[in-house]
Amino acid sequence: MLQLNVLGIAGSPRKGNSEYLLERAIDAAKSLLPPGSVCEIYSFKGKKFNPCLGCNHCVRNSGACIHDDDFEDLRNKWMDADVILYSLPVYHMGIPGQVKCFIDRLGNSAFGSHHVTLPDGTETLVKQFKIIGTIAQGIHIFSGQEHTITDIINHTLLMQSIPVTGDMWEAYIGAAGWTKNRIERDALQQLVREGDFAAFAAVRSAESLGRRAVETAGIVLNGLVSCKDRHTGDPLYRYIYERLADKTGT
Ligand SMILES: Cc1cc2nc3c(=O)[nH]c(=O)nc-3n(C[C@H](O)[C@H](O)[C@H](O)COP(=O)(O)O)c2cc1C
Repeated sequence: MLQLNVLGIAGSPRKGNSEYLLERAIDAAKSLLPPGSVCEIYSFKGKKFNPCLGCNHCVRNSGACIHDDDFEDLRNKWMDADVILYSLPVYHMGIPGQVKCFIDRLGNSAFGSHHVTLPDGTETLVKQFKIIGTIAQGIHIFSGQEHTITDIINHTLLMQSIPVTGDMWEAYIGAAGWTKNRIERDALQQLVREGDFAAFAAVRSAESLGRRAVETAGIVLNGLVSCKDRHTGDPLYRYIYERLADKTGT
């Protein structure tokens, strides 16, 4: 089995409910990881992500951004990962602004560093084949969890990657929860201690999402290795096969 790099991204500016569910997902993912795999949790807490200025410096300069902030560090971790699990608080019915700043810049920066020119002259982003799952939780019910997950599914597709969900019935398009009007950073943990059904469902959905992401990465990456001959010479696949060569030593 190929070793996997798993990156969990906690998108809240505080260590709270997002990180709690992410830890549950990562623990579940770890139970299925092949030996030698690596797991890391990255938190937005204390980090600075400026908004994209649309200057296209990154497009012309191999992905380098003119801002001097925390973008490059997370970008490099993102590019090195095989599995990415986002755990986000719902902000104003969608993803938090700091996460949007990262994603906007990631798309153009990745194009700058990993685009190919097709025979007809079209410039396009290479296939990335990252397996990406999303956890979203908010203070209320029906208050933006699905929109938040959908934002990340769209981001996943744009990044030429593969979105996953968890197991039914708890995870339709990702994992989700609500804190029953509680604002505390440990609200979900309190609810779990109190035996709250919805909080258990949030934890279970995060866990099955973590497992599904690792299972899918194994299937996709090992499948790519066995289909290598079919894609030899296709520039869109060059990057993923270079990454796989690093893993397989071939
Ligand atoms: C600026 C802001 C906007 C928010 N908007 C929503 C919202 O639209 N829907 C919702 O359910 N919760 C909303 N919340 C509440 C958070 O999603 C909720 O408290 C969550 O548990 C915080 O996660 P954390 O503990 O990981 O920071 C908002 C919180 C803030 C600070």
